[in-house]
Amino acid sequence: MNLSTPTLPTRHYLSFDALSAAEYAYLFDRTRIIKARFKRYETYHPLADRTLAMIFEKHSTRTRLSFEAGMHQMGGSAIYLNTRDTQLGRGEPVEDAAQVISRMVDLVMIRTFEQDIIERFAANSRVPVINGLTNEFHPCQILADLFTYQEHRGPVTGQTIAWIGDANNVCRTWMQAARLLNFRLHISTPPGYELDSQQLSHFDPEQVQQFSDPMKAVAGASLVTTDVWTSMGFEAENEVRLNAFADWQVDADMMRAAGPDALFMHCLPAHRGEEVTGEVIDGPQSVVWEEAENRLHTQKALMEFLLLGEMSDAP
Ligand code: CP
Ligand code: NVA
Repeated sequence: MNLSTPTLPTRHYLSFDALSAAEYAYLFDRTRIIKARFKRYETYHPLADRTLAMIFEKHSTRTRLSFEAGMHQMGGSAIYLNTRDTQLGRGEPVEDAAQVISRMVDLVMIRTFEQDIIERFAANSRVPVINGLTNEFHPCQILADLFTYQEHRGPVTGQTIAWIGDANNVCRTWMQAARLLNFRLHISTPPGYELDSQQLSHFDPEQVQQFSDPMKAVAGASLVTTDVWTSMGFEAENEVRLNAFADWQVDADMMRAAGPDALFMHCLPAHRGEEVTGEVIDGPQSVVWEEAENRLHTQKALMEFLLLGEMSDAP
C-alpha cells in the first residue's frame, strides 16, 4: 500500500542536516521507547502493509540487516535491490527509476557513490528517501552513534568528540552533527588528507577544529572515534593510504591520552592493526557492538517518523 503520500509531506533523510535539533531529541526519545519494547519482545506493527525498497550500489552488512529487520519488526516488508541486477545498472536514468520505484513502495533507502545521485532520486520521488551511505555522508550511522553516546554519557551538547584518521563520509557527517547539536569536534588526519579551508568554511572554528597531532586531538575528548583508512570506492588508494595513515592508529596510548571515561566507537567493518588496535576495539572503553545494534533501533524510529510523523501516543 502506498499510504504515505496523501497523509504527510514527503521528508527525505539525505544528510544529517535534514532534521532539526528538536526532531533529533524526539527521535532519541522515540528510539529509547522502541528499543525497550523490542527488548521486552512486544509486538509493535505501526508500519503494517508499508514497503521499503533498499537500493545498494556498494557492499553492506549492518545497513541492509538493520533496515530489513527493522521494517519486518514494525510489520512492514523490505525489498533488496542491487544496482547490478536492476536496470539502473544498465543505464536507466536515476530520475526515471525514482518515478517508478516511488510509485510502488512507501519508503526508499539508497547506498550509492555521489551524493548527487540520491539528491536526483529524491527530487523525483513521491516517497521519503533515506541516505544509507554516499561518498559524502552517512547520516544513519551518526544517528546511531549519538544515541549510543547518550545512552552511556547523556547529552552530547558541550562535549568534545575526537575523530582520528580519514576525513571521510562518516567524519563529514560528524561535522554536520557538531554544528546542529552544538558539540566540539576535534579532527586529526595525516598531512595531505586534511579538510581544506573551503570544506571548513561552513563551520565555526571553535566547534570543528583540525589537529596535526592526534594525541592533542584526543585530549579532553569524551569519545574517540575512527573508521577505515580507505572507504568503499577508493580501493585504488589503499597501498598509499596504509603508509600515510600509520601514525593515526587508535591505540591504548591514545585512549589513555583521552582519559579513562572516554568511549571508543567505530562504524564497522574495522581493520584491527590498521585504524585501531585489537586492544582498543575489544577493550573496556569500546561500545562498538551496542553502536552497531543501535542502527536497528534508531532507524526504526527514523522510518516511523518519516512515514507517520511524531507519535503522540505511548507505543
Ligand atoms: N557501518 C555500516 O554502515 O556498516 P555496513 O557497511 O555493513 O552497512
Ligand atoms: N567510510 C566507510 C564506511 C563504511 C560503513 C566507507 O564509506 O566505506
